[in-house]
Amino acid sequence: MTKQHLLFLGPPGAGKGTQAQQLASRHNLLHLSTGDLLRAEVASATPLGLEAQAVMNRGELVSDALVLAIVRSRLEQQSAALSRGEAGPCGWLLDGFPRNLAQAEALEALLNELGQPIDLVVLMELDDGLLMQRLLSRGRTDDNAEVIRHRLEVYRAQTEPLIAYYRERKLLQSVAAEGTVDAVASRIEAMLH
Ligand code: AP5
Repeated sequence: MTKQHLLFLGPPGAGKGTQAQQLASRHNLLHLSTGDLLRAEVASATPLGLEAQAVMNRGELVSDALVLAIVRSRLEQQSAALSRGEAGPCGWLLDGFPRNLAQAEALEALLNELGQPIDLVVLMELDDGLLMQRLLSRGRTDDNAEVIRHRLEVYRAQTEPLIAYYRERKLLQSVAAEGTVDAVASRIEAMLH
C-alpha cells in the first residue's frame, strides 16, 4: 500500500469506524477515532469525559480545543516513536476528525509541522434511510431517532463543507457504503494503491 495517511469522512452510521478499524489492522496504521477516544474518557469519568458526555448525548460537537488536543498528542507521540526508529504503526487513519473547517485547518497546520500530509480522504456515502437503520440497530447511548436526526443535521451543517475543502485539494475520493462490510472494504482497498 502506498497511501499511509488517510482520513475517513462521512455521515454517522456510514461505517467509518467499522472500515477504519479493519483497514488499520490490515495495514499497520494507527486508528485514531475521536469518538472512541472521547467515549473512553467518558467511561473512565475523567474531567474531560465529564465535560464531553452531555454534549455527545445531545449529538452535538465537543469543543475544537478538546479534540485538537487529543489528536495532536496522539500524532506527536507516533511521530516521535517513528523518528526514534521504534516498531509500531507506519501511518495513521483519522476517523471522525476533522468535523468542521476550524478542525480541518488546525489539522493541516499540525500535519505541516509533522511533515506528514494527508494522502487520501475517503468519503463514505450512504442514504439517510440506511444510516438510520444501522444506527438504530446498534443502540449506542447517542443512537436514538431524535439524536440521530440531530447528528445528521450537525453533519450537514458543519462537516459536509469539508467535502469541498478536500476536493479543492484534490485529496477526496467517494465510495458507496452500501452492501456488506467486505464489499465496502474491497472498494476502499482498491483506492489505496
Ligand atoms: P463518532 O463516534 O465519530 O460517531 P459518528 O460520526 O456519529 O459515527 P458513528 O460511529 O455513529 O458511525 P460510523 O460511520 O463510524 O459507523 P460504524 O462503523 O460505527 O462521534 C460521536 C460523538 O462524539 C459526536 O456526535 C460528537 O459529540 C463527538 N465527537 C467525535 N469526534 C468529534 C470531533 N472531531 N469534534 C467534535 N466532536 C466529536 O457503523 C455503524 C453501525 O452500522 C454499526 O453497528 C456497524 O456494525 C454497522 N455497519 C457498518 N458497516 C456496515 C455494513 N456494510 N452493513 C451493515 N451494517 C454495517
